[in-house]
Amino acid sequence: MRIAVIGTGLIGALHARFLARHPACTLVAVCDTDIEKAQQVAGELGCRAYGDFETLLAAEQLDAVTIATPESHRFEPAVAAAHRGLKILLEKPLGRTLADVDRLVAAMRAEGADPAVNFILHADPRFARMKEIAAMGGIGRPVSTFARRRGTRLGIEKYAQWTDLLSSTLIHDIEMALTVNAAPPERVYAEAVVRACAPYGSHDAVVATLRFADGAVALFETSWVLPPGQPEPLDPAFHLIGDGGSVVIEGSSMGIRVLSEQGYTQPDMAHWPIIDGSIGGALARSLDAFVDRARAGLPPLVGLDQARSAEAVVDAMKRSIATQAPATVRAGGSM
Ligand SMILES: NC(=O)c1ccc[n+]([C@@H]2O[C@H](COP(=O)([O-])OP(=O)(O)OC[C@H]3O[C@@H](n4cnc5c(N)ncnc54)[C@H](O)[C@@H]3O)[C@@H](O)[C@H]2O)c1
Repeated sequence: MRIAVIGTGLIGALHARFLARHPACTLVAVCDTDIEKAQQVAGELGCRAYGDFETLLAAEQLDAVTIATPESHRFEPAVAAAHRGLKILLEKPLGRTLADVDRLVAAMRAEGADPAVNFILHADPRFARMKEIAAMGGIGRPVSTFARRRGTRLGIEKYAQWTDLLSSTLIHDIEMALTVNAAPPERVYAEAVVRACAPYGSHDAVVATLRFADGAVALFETSWVLPPGQPEPLDPAFHLIGDGGSVVIEGSSMGIRVLSEQGYTQPDMAHWPIIDGSIGGALARSLDAFVDRARAGLPPLVGLDQARSAEAVVDAMKRSIATQAPATVRAGGSM
């Protein structure tokens, strides 16, 4: 596939580095409104650099794009790529509000596009195995889910200015909770702490419950306030409890602990570890799945419907925090 990456910040540069080495892809170009970032990645990977996506799409013969711009700049490149009939991988989340997300979903459908959405937990072997076990009835009927996602204040410094804790971070666990539970989400109740994030209209920490239509429940806890020196850069957990068993996933370091003169760390081995110069982990497997499925004409690992459901729960949590009352999850088309 002749492929390009739009948005070469933290995650888009990783997309580009992975795709440049992919045996089934030719990385043709990268694009960033900060042209120096695009030129740096392009220089390193031997492809062309563009400062705007319209010029890129007009100039290059492409089969596919990945779009890793901030979600407030996701709609225009996504629709332009869909209009050209390209295969598309969109970074999550899909937009800043549920109304934006519904507009994007409607526009993609109108173009006949079926983009992949990069919820990378699906490509973490532990979560993939949990999905299989739950789907085969290996834990009986799900009763309760617990998910934790604790980042450091580096998250506030980088992300709170243009996104928020629920949309950028907890949405991964929300989307997975919806995947492994049988019934649709109905109602949430959420409480937030707002201190360092007050200038950004975001939350420092959120604790939320979610009730499913079959009576199962989920509990979520998330924050991005810990000092940057926390041993695991991200401290996640996901526990799925059923009436016939459970699956418990803890951490992102897969058990490795490192003590050196610089201190004690538990490096990320789950999300995008770079080993021998190659990007691995869930990000690599997710991009691989995108390429394989796009080439085979198969539906994406995670598509618009699943992504939209998670966005609807995020939206309900934000409404619950604002009103200090339980909020009903808005089903698709009920805006
Ligand atoms: N799936 C995951 O696990 C994962 C991980 C990290 C980030 N993300 C998502 O990826 C997105 C980007 O996050 P990031 O950490 O890379 O942010 P970032 O700020 O590091 O990078 C975003 C880049 O997009 C560029 N940009 C902005 N508008 C653009 C436009 N119209 N056209 C081209 N380039 C444009 C910016 O100049 C910047 O370089 C966010 O939505 C984030 O939630 C997903």
